[in-house]
Amino acid sequence: MNNSTSDLLNRLSESATIAMARMARELKASGIDVISLSLGEPDFDTPDELKQAGIDAINANETHYTPVSGTVRVREAIAAKFMRDNGLNYTSDQIVVSSGAKQSLANVVLSLVNPGDEVILPAPYWVSYAEIIKVAGGVPVVLPTSIEDDYKIKPEALDDAINDKTRMVIYSSPCNPSGSVYTQSETSNLADVLRKHDNVYTISDEIYELINFTPRHASLAAEPGMMDRVITVNGVSKGFAMTGWRLGYIGAPKWIADACTKIQGQFTSAPCSIAQAAAAAAVEADPSISKPMVDAFLRRRDAMHASLSKIPGINLNIPMGAFYLFPDVSELFGKSFNGNTLNNSDDIAMFFMEEAHVATVSGEAFGTPECIRISYAASDEILEEASRRISVAVSKLL
Ligand SMILES: Cc1ncc(COP(=O)(O)O)c(C=O)c1O
Repeated sequence: MNNSTSDLLNRLSESATIAMARMARELKASGIDVISLSLGEPDFDTPDELKQAGIDAINANETHYTPVSGTVRVREAIAAKFMRDNGLNYTSDQIVVSSGAKQSLANVVLSLVNPGDEVILPAPYWVSYAEIIKVAGGVPVVLPTSIEDDYKIKPEALDDAINDKTRMVIYSSPCNPSGSVYTQSETSNLADVLRKHDNVYTISDEIYELINFTPRHASLAAEPGMMDRVITVNGVSKGFAMTGWRLGYIGAPKWIADACTKIQGQFTSAPCSIAQAAAAAAVEADPSISKPMVDAFLRRRDAMHASLSKIPGINLNIPMGAFYLFPDVSELFGKSFNGNTLNNSDDIAMFFMEEAHVATVSGEAFGTPECIRISYAASDEILEEASRRISVAVSKLL
């Protein structure tokens, strides 16, 4: 028997966030009280009226295959949402719904990226981007940013990184993991650079759109001349606490939407018909439906930011969206515990897991090895206890 897995599989890494969550579960199973701040999902339940839309779909026997790109109803609802919230004029044949924004991203990358093509990832970037690019045979080109720049890319740095091999740029705003939000003028400045490069497409991942503490969300595709160059990715997972429904979507130039439909038609077909009905209700709902959750995230961000900022060696930006803190912990590198030196953020995340029993994620997987990611999608009490434990653990470092 030849039990070897394919070269493609061997090139891939396991998702770091999922790996950390698994380790936390294993420790918990062995009786240790682990606080898990490693996963990226709201700790809220799906709002009742959206659950009801799913129940109604079941009762109406909307339980059959739908068109691969989604029902007309959900695509029209998404097109209307793009117009209402983002000023984007997509027709319903430019929308493709998928089993989560993760599949949307994979469809787009597989549709556009050839082996050897470069894809620019401003770091920190979401873990799966790099791996999806590798599946397509593309080459991730990481552009570092720093805490001084609030982890946002400078237009000049982007311009310098683009060359003849560049096919795509992928970024998220609000950003997972840094929580950074590009302002309207920063988005315009990026558009000014991207408009000069006709071969380069940009995925604007706006999955955290609704979890934004600034007054306004800026969509890259809304910048003049950008509709033909941008694929807007969004979904219901984060903003409506619907991670398990698995429903993401794109708005894109029609030829790219058609390409994504072709790929999806061979891999999975359309996403779940019931989730499509609930997603239509979500994007049609008044966005204030998410307000109680967003208010809670803002309160927790402030509390967690205040307590972690007091810990020597932990430096923070002020994240303006999503539900993560992304502290720079590099001042702790070189310190030791029980004779073991902590050399990098992998070591720090492991130290917090083993000594504080708090699960975080090392920044290595996000392309920013000075940092760790802490999700604050947990109750106020749990977060307070997690900060206390981290503080005690850090005080033991020599
Ligand atoms: C930046 C970013 N994009 C996309 C996704 C995928 O979301 P979905 O649950 O819709 O697949 C996530 C989920 O963690 C994310 O953080």
